[in-house]
Amino acid sequence: MTWIEIGSTTDIPRRGARCVETPQGRIAVFRTMDDQFFATEDRCPHKGGPLSQGIVHGTAVTCPLHNWVISLETGKALGADEGSVPTIPLRREGERLFLALERALRRAG
Ligand code: FES
Repeated sequence: MTWIEIGSTTDIPRRGARCVETPQGRIAVFRTMDDQFFATEDRCPHKGGPLSQGIVHGTAVTCPLHNWVISLETGKALGADEGSVPTIPLRREGERLFLALERALRRAG
């Protein structure tokens, strides 16, 4: 497991997300209204919708495709829906954000 710096807290809008391309696939990094940060794969457990384009409310995100609500803390679908998306360990040091990846990021080019 390798901690990779992925940018600054200020890169991500409150209640929004930003994507990071990694060897593990595309990861969505979310910011809540009260400045908590979470990371999951950018793939809804329902039909693979881009969770990074959903709206964050509390510590959950609503998928933009069919409105499933996914917990950012556990990756599990909330309510009557069943399924889960893998969560990625995230660490914050001041304004810097790090993800724990199984392999280091590919260098561009
Ligand atoms: S793909 Fe996310 S709710 Fe259907």
